Amino acid sequence: MQMDGSKHMGTGAADAPFYLAQGDECDIFTAAYDNNLPVLLKGPTGCGKTRFVAHMAAKLGRPLYTVACHDDLAAADLIGRYLLKGGETVWVDGPLTRAVREGAICYLDEVVEARKDVTVVLHPLTDDRRILPIDRTGEELEAMPGFMLVASYNPGYQNILKTLKPSTRQRFISLEFDFPAPELEARVVSQESGLPLERCKPLIRLAGKLRGLKGQDLEEGVSTRLVVYAATLIAQGMPTERAILAAMVEPLTDDEDIKRGLLDLTTAVFG
Ligand SMILES: Nc1ncnc2c1ncn2[C@@H]1O[C@H](COP(=O)(O)OP(=O)(O)OP(=O)(O)O)[C@@H](O)[C@H]1O
Ligand SMILES: [Mg+2]
Repeated sequence: MQMDGSKHMGTGAADAPFYLAQGDECDIFTAAYDNNLPVLLKGPTGCGKTRFVAHMAAKLGRPLYTVACHDDLAAADLIGRYLLKGGETVWVDGPLTRAVREGAICYLDEVVEARKDVTVVLHPLTDDRRILPIDRTGEELEAMPGFMLVASYNPGYQNILKTLKPSTRQRFISLEFDFPAPELEARVVSQESGLPLERCKPLIRLAGKLRGLKGQDLEEGVSTRLVVYAATLIAQGMPTERAILAAMVEPLTDDEDIKRGLLDLTTAVFG
């Protein structure tokens, strides 16, 4: 516990999930939290967004409610609904309502996937009113201190119809994420997999080459998550080539020709 009376009640980075900062994102997130501002994280799949939020929630000492958004997610899934329990109808808070009541962080993952009525709910919560109207119960909740809304999305693979409306996105402090720089990514992969740093470096070089194919042969570059998988298999004793095929080639494409091309790249990197 910090002894300076600040509102950061976390016990510090020591017991937070491991997260290696790429830049000033931790400072910006903390400043946003201190000033009641919502944050939007943009970036490709598997680059560390979810890990970052888990890390920051622990550092700030806030409970974290994560919601994976999908195209069927309705406002009631976030806010809550009446449920029948033993012949009685009882109101059950959704994760957003719980976070508002408790002063927790609510993280909406892939927020662009959610239905339109969801973004409407977010508006009064993301401006200085910080209120959540619950139509069904007639309540109007004021967010408790410490409540913070965090959303993320991958600007890559949505079509144009699936971006956020300006009136929504202009309510968030936004941070752009990308794969960590090679030296940082090697440290992340080594830490996560237990594979020695020197043995991670060629995997990172290969990842760089695979990312260069994005937009040509590949829809998305290889994620840090997949590099961690490959390193984990290698650390367990799996032959390098086999681990790379399973973790860094097969997940990227079903096209046999492209796969062969990726394996040639692998041979070029590993010699
Ligand atoms: N900076 C980092 N520090 C620590 N671990 C990281 C970092 N970046 C990536 N990772 C590793 O990559 C994995 C994937 O990251 P994460 O799940 O946060 O991705 P994401 O950006 O949320 O992806 P998605 O958009 O698919 O949800 C993590 O489990 C972790 O092992
Ligand atoms: Mg995620």
